[in-house]
Amino acid sequence: MKTFVAGTSKKLIKTKIYTLAPSNIALVKYWGKRDFQIPLNPSVSFSLKKAQSKTEIEVLPIKTKRNLPSVEFTFEKKPSKVFSSKVNAFLKHASRYCPWLLDHHLVIDSENNFPHSSGIASSASSMASMAIGIMQIENQLFENTLSPTHLLSKASFLARLGSGSAARSIEGPMVIWGESSRFPKSNNQYGVRVDQILELHPIFKTFCNAILIIDYKSKKVSSSTGHHLMNDHPYRESRILQAHNHLGELEEVLTTGDLSNLIPIVEREALSLHSLMMSSSDYYLLFKPNTVQAINEIIDFRKSTKLPIMFTLDAGPNIHVLYPQALKAQVEEFIKLQLKRLCLNNQILFDGVGPGATWSFSKK
Ligand code: DP6
Repeated sequence: MKTFVAGTSKKLIKTKIYTLAPSNIALVKYWGKRDFQIPLNPSVSFSLKKAQSKTEIEVLPIKTKRNLPSVEFTFEKKPSKVFSSKVNAFLKHASRYCPWLLDHHLVIDSENNFPHSSGIASSASSMASMAIGIMQIENQLFENTLSPTHLLSKASFLARLGSGSAARSIEGPMVIWGESSRFPKSNNQYGVRVDQILELHPIFKTFCNAILIIDYKSKKVSSSTGHHLMNDHPYRESRILQAHNHLGELEEVLTTGDLSNLIPIVEREALSLHSLMMSSSDYYLLFKPNTVQAINEIIDFRKSTKLPIMFTLDAGPNIHVLYPQALKAQVEEFIKLQLKRLCLNNQILFDGVGPGATWSFSKK
């Protein structure tokens, strides 16, 4: 995308930035891609408040321009081969849009403030925390002349190059990524805040999310493999249509706050995502027995209490329970009484919707 290529700057800088970016949970799921990091269908998510990645980026000038970014990456201050290769690949893509990266050496350290062992995917939050840092440094390099809109959209654009869902982790409380005819301004290149497109009902600005850690030990199939399997998936076209229809239905729900219409969209999306995995040519199944048990208990609780709580899942066995702030006490009592015993080591993370990434040029 031409407009995102930064101009060349002769200036070199030496600076350090500290960033935080959240994980997100999709209501309409991104599953399948085409070309390079272009989603098969639009998706929309809540940015979380507590589950975040924290990144420090130090930028130092180098004498001779390089062909590839020069990076020293540590995870929790320790070298990590797996993460380093992902970060290198990400910065290589980013340097096409931020050529100044090739004139500087980068020392990056990242960590997640949610437990390692929680099985929560960190690619969205970590790529977003790096992307927002790079854009703040770019702004400093260009004497603070970048507009906030450009800065945030380009941060989301860069984050997308590292991990698709990361495009939705720059801002909050809700972000849409991928072109939907029902959401003007939505596009495949970067995420857009839903409240900039429509009048978002206040109920969604304080929504709660309890993450039930059902299992994290089982062998995972990477999201990249799953996305790839959508290329020749027998339900590919109907899945694309379904996601567009769900977004169409969601548009009204997001302004009215009518949760009875939200529940079937969110739960159908979660189950469709897993059905797609189960019906791909190399099929696989990520549900655990307790995933099924918890889903049924949530549905039964909703039926008997008529309280609007709902579940969704990422590409794993863990369950995200979603409920409005007004029901926090009642729902969390149910979760602790009925669902906690289904979680590995009774692990539950109580989180909620948050505002997106933050940054500072000085350590706090
Ligand atoms: C199931 O963003 O992890 O969480 O672009 O290959 O990094 P890559 O995939 P990734 O896919 C996550 C998909 C999902 C659904 C969602 O968050 O929309």
